[in-house]
Parts: sequence; C-alpha cells; structure tokens
Amino acid sequence: MPAPTLLFYCRNGFENDVRQEWQGRYAASGSWEAGEGYALLHAEAQVDAAAWHASNWIFARQVLAVLGRVQLGERDRLGPIVDALASVARPGRWSEVWLEHPDSDAGKPLSGFCKRFAPIVAQALSERGWLAPEGKGPRLHLFFPAQSEAILAEADPEQASPWPLGVPRVRMPTGAPSRSTLKLAEAFMTLVPDADTLLKPGMVGVDLGAAPGGWTFQLVARGLKVFAIDNGPMKGDMALHPHVKHLREDGFRYRPKNPVDWLVCDMVEQPARVAQLIADWFSRGHTRHAVFNLKLPMKKRWSEIERCFGILEAALDRTELRYTLTAKQLYHDREEITCYLGLTRSAQAKRRR
Ligand SMILES: C[S@@+](CC[C@H](N)C(=O)[O-])C[C@H]1O[C@@H](n2cnc3c(N)ncnc32)[C@H](O)[C@@H]1O
Repeated sequence: MPAPTLLFYCRNGFENDVRQEWQGRYAASGSWEAGEGYALLHAEAQVDAAAWHASNWIFARQVLAVLGRVQLGERDRLGPIVDALASVARPGRWSEVWLEHPDSDAGKPLSGFCKRFAPIVAQALSERGWLAPEGKGPRLHLFFPAQSEAILAEADPEQASPWPLGVPRVRMPTGAPSRSTLKLAEAFMTLVPDADTLLKPGMVGVDLGAAPGGWTFQLVARGLKVFAIDNGPMKGDMALHPHVKHLREDGFRYRPKNPVDWLVCDMVEQPARVAQLIADWFSRGHTRHAVFNLKLPMKKRWSEIERCFGILEAALDRTELRYTLTAKQLYHDREEITCYLGLTRSAQAKRRR
C-alpha cells in the first residue's frame, strides 16, 4: 500500500500546531501543506493506527485519508468530482457523503454552497451504486478549500469525528451566566468517556475560578452540588442556587474537607501551575475526575503541553492510580486546550490519548 496523504481540520491558525503534535507523537516524516483551517500531510510511510482516531488528537478536529484532488470549473463541478471518484469507487463503497469547508473566514461562505450541492452529489453517487446507506463502509468527505477545488477523502466513522467539520453542535442553554458554559458542555461531549454515567445527581463538584458561573451551571444542570471558588461574583441563578456554595477563596490554596467526585478549573494562569495544582488534587485523593483548561503560550504550544502532561503523569505514576488523560482544543477554546483526567478501574491503565 502506498503511504497515505492525511487531511486534518483544525482551528484557523493552528495548522502548525497539528504538525508539531504529529512530530511530537509519531516522529514520522512527511511533507506538509497548510491552508487556513486545514493541513495536509503527505506521509512517507504507513501511519501509526492511533493517528487515524480523531479523538486522539488535540489540535486536529478531524482526520481523513485523501483519495484525490480535483480542480473544478465554474460551470460543471459535479462532472470532475464523479470522474475522479470513478477510479476508486466500487458498488456500495461509501455509507454516506459529507460536503465540508474550512472553518475560516474564507471557508465559512462556502457553507451555503456545500448545503445546496450535497443532495446533488449524493444523488449522483447513489445512481452509480457507490453509496450504501445501510452499509458499514467508510464515509466519503468532499472538502472544498474553495469553490474551485475539492479534496476527496474518506474516514472510518468509528474512528473519525462524528460531527460535520469536526465541530460538535452545542446549544447555549437558557439561564447560563456566561458563554464559557459551552466549553464545559463540549468537553463533556467530546473528552469525557461516558460522561452521562460519570456525572450523576447527588455527586459533589468543585469549580475553581467559577465566576460568573458558566461551568458551575453545567454541573448543577447534571444534579451536582458545587463549591464555587472565586473572589469574583457569581451571576444569575448561580448566585442563589441552593446547590451552589460560593466561597471567596484563592483557587490555588483551597482544598475540600472531604474528597469530591469532580473538579473543574478555568482559572487563567500559567499552564504548568494549573497542571501542578491538578496533580496535587489527585495525588492527595481530593477528586476522582477533573476537567481543566491549559491556557497556552503564543509559541511552542506543543512543548508546553508535553511539559504539563509530564507534570501530571509524573505525579500520578508515583501513585498506584490508574487513569485516563484526554485533551482537545475545543471549538469553544481559543488559545487554550481543555483536558480531562479521570481515575479508572479498568485494567487498561495509565492511558494517555
Ligand atoms: C475565565 S473566568 C472563569 C469563567 C467561568 N468558568 C464561567 O464559565 O463562567 C476565570 C475566573 O478565574 C478567577 N480566578 C483567577 N485566578 C483565581 C484564583 N487564584 N483563585 C480563584 N479564582 C481565580 C477569576 O476571578 C475569573 O472569575
């Protein structure tokens, strides 16, 4: 099999971080092409199986295997795409087809075009017998960096991000006191394995840097009782809610009297200092699960992430604790990433993704 070309979707401006992450994790060579909100890797050898799982990536939202690239005329866009696909198609090869564009200023205006063009493409593929909606085949992605070019790619739906553009849809909940609430909601959807069973009514959580209360809102909405730590004021319902105890204390010094189920932390601080704090909570048995943000520097972001993970792993490796550590630059994150660290009973211990 020839070495693959991979297409990554990412936040606009973070294409180089995808490359750094690739080099940091897989140390494999290849040549890179970066657009705005996406990057292409022409690998020189077969790719580590773990790299195909979008959930393993921090900076990449989606990972696809490139099948080909076509230039499109203004009059006939369908013809060149069908012709290019004909060389790789076979009956029922794809379970569905998605039309996508980069998440960038240049890419967003293509959203309407993709929506209008999608049923036309799907019909053309169905007529040729290439789509098998009931099948378990890969999903075909037509990615348009511009209306004049399509990158044809595919992914195993079991490994790829399940959301178009790799962006989960999270609705702003009524009554939430800040838009940051969307970050924690997205983290529960994407980062925390089985969040619905790990977050249960009656559990206790601590929110460090809680004000005005967007993250606390998410915990309360799942039935948790929350200690909200911040010198600033909580707002709206979170200022008065019977399940919220607001403590005006320093989030770095506060420790709970009894162990809690969940710790969340959104304090704007040096990432290594936050990592040290989280490591301390786990080493001392104060919590079993944590979601926290690491605000990244403008440069050398990957090496800062490695440093922070090193702090967490070194602390946990000194204990007998088994854990899962996952991280992602969420759609609602900017110059930061969000991490989940959770203790696990499974035999597959000390796993980092
Ligand atoms: C980004 S905001 C948190 C937003 C919150 N997660 C939400 O969803 O509404 C950061 C908060 O961290 C608080 N903060 C920063 N340093 C802190 C510290 N050492 N102790 C407690 N709170 C701190 C700030 O007062 C600020 O309210």
